[in-house]
Amino acid sequence: MGPTLAHSVDLDLFDEINRLKKEKNAVILAHYYQEPDIQDIADFVGDSLELARAAQRSQADLILFAGVHFMAEGAKILNPSRKVVMPDLRAGCSLSDSCPPGAFARFKAKYPDHWVVSYINCSAAIKAQSDVICTSSNAIKIVEKIPLDRGIIFAPDRNLGAYVAKKTGRDMILWQGTCIVHETFSERKIIELKIQHPDAQLIAHPECEPSLLDRADVIGSTSALLSHVISSPIQKFIIATEEGILHQMKKKAPGKTLIPAPPNHACACNECPFMKLNTLEKVYLALRDETPEVDMPIELREKALKPLQTMLDWSL
Ligand code: 13P
Ligand code: SF4
Repeated sequence: MGPTLAHSVDLDLFDEINRLKKEKNAVILAHYYQEPDIQDIADFVGDSLELARAAQRSQADLILFAGVHFMAEGAKILNPSRKVVMPDLRAGCSLSDSCPPGAFARFKAKYPDHWVVSYINCSAAIKAQSDVICTSSNAIKIVEKIPLDRGIIFAPDRNLGAYVAKKTGRDMILWQGTCIVHETFSERKIIELKIQHPDAQLIAHPECEPSLLDRADVIGSTSALLSHVISSPIQKFIIATEEGILHQMKKKAPGKTLIPAPPNHACACNECPFMKLNTLEKVYLALRDETPEVDMPIELREKALKPLQTMLDWSL
């Protein structure tokens, strides 16, 4: 028997979730940072770009998005005729929260001729103020498409922005947001680990700080890091991203040694507290009750769709 609902020992959550999925023609989309049980019950697990594409093409009547709020909002924007629910509406994102729409509008007004490229980790209100969206897997490709005679504002992640600026050689004005998970990795402890394990590769998400990225052997989105671990002949990896990705790495590359990058102090950890608000029990309840629902005013949704669609068109 699988996990059960508290106070109801007879209810097998895996069975119940599968039953509800069929009954309601529902689909579960989950990000790699979700707890293993949620990844295992999901119909599709992916990085932000893959999840956005999966949401757009979904024919399900109900989309349960097991991720954070901006991701579920993106699913609604891309597929507005579907009902979108989340396990826990409080699952936000520090990057998204770092960029309030009013302050961003004032910042943007200082550079009227600039293109606005926003990382998908932002609210619909920021997307609506952007010319094009990007994810960690297509950011370089997107920035390279912007005319050379135009300046670029990049928001909200300053680390991804600095990485893309370095890779493309483009001058970019960066909004100073960061991810609370990716900025906790200790460069000193990673250097110590690399000395202890000279045969290990350091693989990192581009939300990490520049000093860590400079030491990384491979930099990529969650899906890119997973693919690398699967296909590389290397057997040992130090992984500088949220630890949820290790579930798929262990499943798809059994036998490889996976060392989570250590945080800089004992109280920090490499778990995203927002992603981890979602539990299997909340997935079940959200499917059963079709709440909490993610929705927004039509005008906002339509404004936010344009830059998201531009991203999807440019990253084919
Ligand atoms: P990916 O698109 O690489 O999965 O990143 C999502 C995210 O929130 C990273 O912190
Ligand atoms: Fe946001 Fe960081 Fe959590 Fe990703 S890991 S959802 S960027 S807070």
